[in-house]
Amino acid sequence: MTLKKNVEALRLKKAIVEKGGGDKAIEKQIAMGKLPARERIVALLDQGSFHEYDMFVEHEERNFGMDRKELPGDGVITGTGTINGAPVCIYAQDFTVMGGSLGLKHARKITKIMDHALKMKIPCIGINDSGGARIQEGIGALAGYGEIFYRNTMASGVIPQISVILGPCAGGAVYSPALTDFVFVVENISKMFITGPNVIETVLGEKISQENLGGARVHAEITGNAHFYALSEKECFEQIKTLISLIPHSNEEKAKRVEPKRPKSKKKIENIIPSDPKQPYDVRDIIHALADDSQFLEVHELWAPNIVVGFGRMDGETVGFVANQPLYLAGVLDCDASDKAARFIRYCDAFNIPIITLEDMPGYLPGVDQEHAGVIRHGAKVLYAYSEATVPKMTVILRKAYGGGYIAMNSRHLGADFMFAWPGAEIAVMGPEGAANIIFRKEIMEAEDEEAMRQQKVKEYVEKFANPFVAASKGYIDAVIEPQETRELLLHALSVSKKKDDYRPAKKHGIPPF
Ligand code: HXC
Repeated sequence: MTLKKNVEALRLKKAIVEKGGGDKAIEKQIAMGKLPARERIVALLDQGSFHEYDMFVEHEERNFGMDRKELPGDGVITGTGTINGAPVCIYAQDFTVMGGSLGLKHARKITKIMDHALKMKIPCIGINDSGGARIQEGIGALAGYGEIFYRNTMASGVIPQISVILGPCAGGAVYSPALTDFVFVVENISKMFITGPNVIETVLGEKISQENLGGARVHAEITGNAHFYALSEKECFEQIKTLISLIPHSNEEKAKRVEPKRPKSKKKIENIIPSDPKQPYDVRDIIHALADDSQFLEVHELWAPNIVVGFGRMDGETVGFVANQPLYLAGVLDCDASDKAARFIRYCDAFNIPIITLEDMPGYLPGVDQEHAGVIRHGAKVLYAYSEATVPKMTVILRKAYGGGYIAMNSRHLGADFMFAWPGAEIAVMGPEGAANIIFRKEIMEAEDEEAMRQQKVKEYVEKFANPFVAASKGYIDAVIEPQETRELLLHALSVSKKKDDYRPAKKHGIPPF
């Protein structure tokens, strides 16, 4: 055969593989609002940048009639490409090929591209659309999952790992996304669960829809398994592109610097916090007033909204913001908010991203529910994550900083490099009302006018302790600053922290309160 004929034969062979599960299955996929797997990759990556590998890998299963089944690409597409010019490794499961189910060869294609990503120190993106372990393959499928989970763990903290759930992600399949850094879900398309509705009905006799069991909103809002939620695949791909532009592409790098732009937010920073300390406000307005171009990519936006975490830029360089959100539960730390903050802090620390903490909160959430849910164990994760982090860490106390919350939110005592407080900051063991009721109980009870005495004692307490000056007099706060100075001071603090080198005792690893 001439080379020309060989090329033609190659093209034909490729075209067959590219048809995946065939026209009918592709039509079904599109009717569900889903793009076919290859089109998803093309839509996410820079135009013309995708290069596919292992197209001709075939499964070797012989049982249950599998010897007669041809599965193009074994149900998964793998390759490399670029996003905004940055190289990435990528795979996408093809639901049109036997439900995207995972057999050993399918898994080995995935582990091969994961190994490549780790070696090349570039992000790895997995698009999940699969019925889980290929039932006919038994142990081969289980082995495949195990090999993926192992690599997810090895790559954790070295390269960014991104999971995109664009269809079912059932059974063992859910644990790879759960081990990765960021999980993206899309309304009506993403479904994640360990045990499907059919099995639940058989075992528990309960009828439940896939959506209610593990739809996009469930994971974005209730379980916290998903970090980003979108209404369409297109919106989801835009979110991924923005994230990739903001994060470093390995733990050996810093995120790409861009030309800095001043915040464009119209709200004046000094006017955002209401004069009544009991009134809430949206802490994202403060972030918008501080961040370059007022750009802020919020992570876990719908889950545990009492804390806000996400990426922005200061002087063109990526920073992580962690901020109490007075709009929800007065910005307290509860179990979920603690998990959310601790995980984000660890991400920033692993990938050389300085952390800016904005504090306004009355402490940890009290109550039987929280105590029984393990607020001690979950709350400890925040202490651990901040203490362990060696990236530049700065805090601005905007208003309340009470009790355990004061310590937990990157206090000087946990190793903050810079501690600033606004003049209205209240730093105390607890809120003035609660404090006065306890320490002046006798005087209040013995007074002729109990209420007047209570008010007087609350005032005394506020004057004595609920301000930033006691903490400043001890050096726990470096500077009491005016709100409009905050951005300049943070920019300065970041610029002097560029070569920060922090000592930690040598150890194999710590034992965080998982
Ligand atoms: C083999 C599978 C499969 C699987 C789907 N298919 N899942 N084949 N193994 N796990 C096949 C179907 O037989 C069908 O083939 C085609 O894919 C499309 O599936 P449908 O059921 O027609 O699609 P749909 O109605 O959209 O339902 C999708 C689904 C359902 C909800 C995902 O297929 C389903 O419930 N699958 C099983 C999910 C599950 O319980 N997985 C857990 C496996 S155990 P044909 O030839 O008819 O087109 C597991 C444990 C691993 O994962 C533990 C590791 C730690």
